[in-house]
Amino acid sequence: MDEGLGLPQGAFAKIDAQEDEIFYEPPRLVCHIDDGAIAALTEFYRVTLPEGGVLLDLMSSWVSHLPPEIDYAEVIGHGMNETELAANPRLTRWFAQNLNRDPKLPLADASVDAAMVCVSIQYLQQPVGVLREVARVLRPGGPLVISFSNRCFWTKAVAIWRALDDSGHARLVERYLRHAGFERIETSQLAEWVEDVSDPMTAVVGRAAAM
Ligand SMILES: C[S@@+](CC[C@H](N)C(=O)[O-])C[C@H]1O[C@@H](n2cnc3c(N)ncnc32)[C@H](O)[C@@H]1O
Repeated sequence: MDEGLGLPQGAFAKIDAQEDEIFYEPPRLVCHIDDGAIAALTEFYRVTLPEGGVLLDLMSSWVSHLPPEIDYAEVIGHGMNETELAANPRLTRWFAQNLNRDPKLPLADASVDAAMVCVSIQYLQQPVGVLREVARVLRPGGPLVISFSNRCFWTKAVAIWRALDDSGHARLVERYLRHAGFERIETSQLAEWVEDVSDPMTAVVGRAAAM
């Protein structure tokens, strides 16, 4: 299923086609990007996410990369591994759910002020279905920040992601957001790639449309 994106057949196939629960069963209390990329993302969150708002950190782990000095009303976490989510000090509550099996979020319409998906979008096999759900739970105008680098769990990334380079990834994420009904889509290069020195970091932001 290509969700009307006009992508080739097999675009969402993974090398490791086993259930995702098997791959994500061992907790990984590691950082998936380097310190410079994290600092750049945190600074981007500082100016993009509303202070005091309700946030949804979708596809999270034990870190959310939020600015430490800013308080939010709630940070709702979602991921695949309960040990990782329980270890995340920023989350006020969380739930585990395989979005490749069930994209429906257990959250009310227009109940979230901003949402984030960090270094994880490449694992979604129904990205438009999931992002439509994010649009549903966001209040109108609320931002969704999708960030990514050039590293990933290769066997779990979908084929279309594996076929593209960094700028192709940005175009693909923009396309996901457009098809999910997001507006005012903007891409920012947060950190540059320098071979063996620094990880690149890109953020694509879309705003939820009025219902
Ligand atoms: C590389 S980690 C990134 C974690 C975190 N966002 C970070 O910045 O460190 C990839 C995450 O994608 C999420 N993920 C992968 N496959 C998923 C699936 N099928 N359903 C839901 N979440 C999934 C898991 O939460 C996993 O921890």
